[in-house]
Amino acid sequence: MSAHFQNNVSIVDPLVANALLNEKKRQQDQIELIASENIVSRAVLDALGHEMTNKTLEGYPGNRFHGGGKFVDIVEQAAIDRAKKLFGCGYANVQPHSGSQANLAVFFLLLKPEDRVLSLDLAAGGHLSHGLKANLSGRWFEAHHYGVDAESEAINYDELEKLAYKIQPKLLIAGGSAYPREIDFERMGQIAKKVGAWLHVDMAHIAGLVAAGVHPSPFPHADIVTCTTTKTLRGPRGGLILTNNEDWMKRLQAAVFPGVQGSIHTQVLAAKAICLGEALTDDFKNYAAQVKTNAVTMAETLINRGIRIVSGGTDTHIVLLDLSSKGLTGKQAEVVLEMANITSNKNAIPNDSTRPPEWVGLRLGTGAATSRGMKEAEFKKLGEMIANLIDAEAAGDVRAIVDRCSAQVAELCSKFPVYKE
Ligand SMILES: Cc1ncc(COP(=O)(O)O)c(C=O)c1O
Repeated sequence: MSAHFQNNVSIVDPLVANALLNEKKRQQDQIELIASENIVSRAVLDALGHEMTNKTLEGYPGNRFHGGGKFVDIVEQAAIDRAKKLFGCGYANVQPHSGSQANLAVFFLLLKPEDRVLSLDLAAGGHLSHGLKANLSGRWFEAHHYGVDAESEAINYDELEKLAYKIQPKLLIAGGSAYPREIDFERMGQIAKKVGAWLHVDMAHIAGLVAAGVHPSPFPHADIVTCTTTKTLRGPRGGLILTNNEDWMKRLQAAVFPGVQGSIHTQVLAAKAICLGEALTDDFKNYAAQVKTNAVTMAETLINRGIRIVSGGTDTHIVLLDLSSKGLTGKQAEVVLEMANITSNKNAIPNDSTRPPEWVGLRLGTGAATSRGMKEAEFKKLGEMIANLIDAEAAGDVRAIVDRCSAQVAELCSKFPVYKE
């Protein structure tokens, strides 16, 4: 057999092998609180590194442009069936390479250039693929945005309705990447109907919570739903599109392929089928309920320590901190947390600066650490550590606190290991 089939990565490419090894170690040694991350199962990892990646295939099960696709057909059909069962809908497209691609396919299906869309403002927790000027969605469509209520920092549906009447969008988009509160999909569906728009729900962040029934489902209120299979759904990097609209099903197939994509990421399809199967289990339901409980525990701990939480709490996995009263930027907090091996990210909060270095928000999420098995006691500890680190950074003397927190993080990480060797 040739070396091509035998030599592993450490022989072929020591530079990459070393980076892979270090990344694996980093994941074991750091506590991941980035809200868009999670830790996939061993089974999902198995699929991602599988020989199925060699298979080129276009089209859909039973109607392919290449031969040799019968095993990919099995996994794609399983992923479709499981997605439909999990989210209670009549159609699922499991091919989008990412959440942004899924959204692009929806736009390709429903909009023409310069059509109007109305979506959540980025600083209020929206996502760049919903019409940011720097993104194709903002370049090709006339994007308008709704914000959050100045006091509650949650969506004010009466204000949204007024704005929707004024803007008359073709597509109303719900969902975002830093919105910690439950979204009233029923009300949004009513608003969309009143103004003659379609409702597109991008549930990328909360898909796992929806799947487990711990967050209301966008169905039957949404016309079309997209999500990533990463984040709370705890699967591979990729997207899904779901709908009940029978008239769109055929055109949706074409909107994904050949509309915005070419061939399938075949091994990712297998990983998606696995994660969707996992999400149908009771274990997953328990995990998702714990994700929410952990977020509430962390938010309450931080509030008790005098840190302002945007909207006063959370209904999801996201806890969004406002560091302005501490005189810190999100970046400063992100850096000091990382010194203690806690990973997070700076984020805009409502009415924040448009310049990322000046953002005063820090976004935390509970998905990944919950997957490790951490519960309320650990998240209380984490909340205390984060508050100590932020206070130390604000006081300008972090060394002792960083040392103490690093030791506590190391203890937690060894108690809740990630993957066996
Ligand atoms: C709401 C929302 N939609 C879409 C995306 C984009 O997903 P991807 O990074 O897979 O393109 C994200 C990613 O963070 C998101 O939060």
